[in-house]
Amino acid sequence: MNKKILSIENSCDDTCICISDLNMNIITSAVYNKSFIHAKFNGIIPELASKYNSVKILEVFDDVFNKTKLKTSDISYIAVTYGPGLINSLSIGINFAKNLCLLYSIPIIKINHLEGHIFSGIKEKIQFPFISLVISGGNTVIYLSEKLFSYELIGFSLDEAVGESLDKLASIMGLKYPGGVSIDNIVSSRNYFKLYKFPSILNTKDNFNFSFSGYKTFVSSFIKNSDIFFDKIFLGDICYSIQYYIFNSIIKKTINSCLKFKIKNLYIGGGVACNSYFRKKILEESIKNNINLFIADKELCSDNAIMISKVAVFKIKKKVFDDFSFIPEPNAKL
Ligand code: KG4
Repeated sequence: MNKKILSIENSCDDTCICISDLNMNIITSAVYNKSFIHAKFNGIIPELASKYNSVKILEVFDDVFNKTKLKTSDISYIAVTYGPGLINSLSIGINFAKNLCLLYSIPIIKINHLEGHIFSGIKEKIQFPFISLVISGGNTVIYLSEKLFSYELIGFSLDEAVGESLDKLASIMGLKYPGGVSIDNIVSSRNYFKLYKFPSILNTKDNFNFSFSGYKTFVSSFIKNSDIFFDKIFLGDICYSIQYYIFNSIIKKTINSCLKFKIKNLYIGGGVACNSYFRKKILEESIKNNINLFIADKELCSDNAIMISKVAVFKIKKKVFDDFSFIPEPNAKL
């Protein structure tokens, strides 16, 4: 019998649970997205995220089982995110998972959220060595992996994550949260844009780090000091320019890291990897540079439990299980 895994991703504001098997077939999956709750604050409020996680986790759990004929006793393993993320949200998922494992005497597997994002583009096998890029609301990182579960950090944001930056830039322009989505929608709605001259981002060669936080000051003073009327056209041109500089910097550094370390495989995940401009450009650049691109499908870019289940499959096959003493690690590294 193909054993079943219950996976829980509860590291930030979304409550996500799925049931899958050891062949990575997804039997059922549910996500309770709470962006609408955080929208009025233009960002995630940790206390609200954990409050709704604690309220919704049982509902989402019931929801995934109601979609199948499976019973809780049919589950052989439970995988859960232990970090990085918000401490209270992580605790809720971990305690829920531990209680179920103790109740049914089944193994628990703790999964790193970033590793989940990296594995979200994996179908069955992983091609080594690879470079991975995670771009999300809380992380902007590039890793080099020579073998399974081994990560060398080669690039990261020196200040805020790219998603956080896009959300704040959108808020400056009066766009609704999540700002990355609003900016993407505006740029996707027109074919021609004027490209403004914005500063390029940490453009030094052989440096794979990022810095986005200065863009907020730059863009707000650019708008304030411009004599152009702030209408839809001007807003679209600014959104296009923001995307152009931010994503071209990320793409250039990612491709350069592949070239520098002579790596042919590139894995990409995280909510920001949904971006239409980014997806088109990174594909073009990968083809141009003869790099095999494995980018998560759009529905697996944002937080979900399917990505956690993919890591779990590799851990189960290697018999990597955890004891029950682990705790949430809000700043967990890979
Ligand atoms: O991975 P994710 O759901 O949460 C974290 O783990 O952080 O990423 C959320 C981030 C938000 O900042 C949101 O604005 C951004 O992903 N995002 C996008 C797009 N869709 C979501 N940014 C740019 N373009 C998009 N289409």
